[in-house]
Amino acid sequence: MATSKPNIRGTWNSKIGFILAAAGSAVGLGNIWRYPTVMAENGGAAFLFIYAMLVFIVGYPVMVAELSVGRRTQKNPVGAFKALSKNKIFTIAGFWCVLCGIAILSFYVIIAGWTISYFFEQIFFHAGLHDWAAWVSDTENGWLNAAVAIMFMAVTITIVLGGVSQGIERAVRLLMPLLVVIIGILIVYVMFQPGASEGLTEYLVPDFSAINTDLILAAMGQAFFSLSLGMGALITYGSYLSKKENIPEAAAMVTVFDVGIAFMAGLLIMPTIYMAQAQGVVIFDADGNLVAGTALIFQVLPELFHEMGGLIGLIFGASFFFLLSIAALTSAISLLEVPTSYVIDEHGIRRKKSAILIGGIITIIALFVAFDTSLIGTIDFIFSVIGLPLGGLFVSIFLAYFWKTENARLELEKGFDDINSTIFWPVYKVFIKYICPVLIAAILISTIVEAIR
Ligand code: TRP
Repeated sequence: MATSKPNIRGTWNSKIGFILAAAGSAVGLGNIWRYPTVMAENGGAAFLFIYAMLVFIVGYPVMVAELSVGRRTQKNPVGAFKALSKNKIFTIAGFWCVLCGIAILSFYVIIAGWTISYFFEQIFFHAGLHDWAAWVSDTENGWLNAAVAIMFMAVTITIVLGGVSQGIERAVRLLMPLLVVIIGILIVYVMFQPGASEGLTEYLVPDFSAINTDLILAAMGQAFFSLSLGMGALITYGSYLSKKENIPEAAAMVTVFDVGIAFMAGLLIMPTIYMAQAQGVVIFDADGNLVAGTALIFQVLPELFHEMGGLIGLIFGASFFFLLSIAALTSAISLLEVPTSYVIDEHGIRRKKSAILIGGIITIIALFVAFDTSLIGTIDFIFSVIGLPLGGLFVSIFLAYFWKTENARLELEKGFDDINSTIFWPVYKVFIKYICPVLIAAILISTIVEAIR
């Protein structure tokens, strides 16, 4: 196992291995918990529209940027910025990336813990143990949140200290397609339920008057979160990428796959929300605002499985939450990998020690979140909604004006020989130099102006 030695970095076993790992990082709670929740809070279809645009206009170019910086330098974000520019600002940006990873993971594990709790909720419920089901699914039970999150963190740490490519590739190759199939079947099922068409309309027919700065900011935050961008996760993953791979192509696959799964999750959850409402679950308050908050999908989805009933309900309910927890695990791994690789590279501490140290710190922060879940919204806003686009802004400015696009082209050329003869390069240059930084900065600045007024 080469990766357990301090100075030898691992590489992905194969091209498909890298794509699986990057997709494993991208696809997670962001697609199935965060996206439907934020979308439902922000007017459904209008949000989907802006989100999809931002994914391709800003997300994809930043992904290519992160991967090329990572592969060029073979380093973590702090080390990567340092290696290519003397400017101290980017060292600070690198630290910001590491900090975002720590902060995001500290609430991510709590939600991931809920997916495990709900796996058991399904088993208990369908076995007729309704009291147990109710107990294990109480998301406000601090001790329970803490216990399950600690378990989840322990598994994440164990995988990270073994090195990058083991485990992730296999888990994703096998289980991700299964998750897609299950969601697909559930979509078909839910379409036949009362209330479903109302949810579908809300999801697919945009009301453009719902678009405002809050919605645009939320959509940008979601684009970065879902694609695992803006905190150097893909700089780190890119550092394990072989020079033979075509970065723009790999990034395109990951992006399309990730958005596809989020889109499907919306297709499942919007109708389910309305179905649950038809069943008497309180979803909206008198003003039409969503009451569920961060626990939304954990209130409506179990309802769907209870409704299915019997063995079918048990099989779908239990496997859905099981697969979701695996998806969360492959994402959590990438969140922990960033600060860990920083400690390994920059402080020369062994992988095993680093993973335990950083993982331990994150677990301690997570305990606070376990007992006060309202912290999730706050941390998420600071580090995901603001923090990640800020990181993305740094990366695009860094590539375009400090490392320089010509050097990026030389890196991208490896694995993509005819880069000069395709439309990709001239278009990419315009995006990374002008469109991405200007658009990200404009959205962040208008949010600040709005907040001050
Ligand atoms: N993208 C993951 C999800 O959708 C979460 C995640 C993993 C992440 N690594 C990241 C988010 C890095 C931001 C940055 O669940």
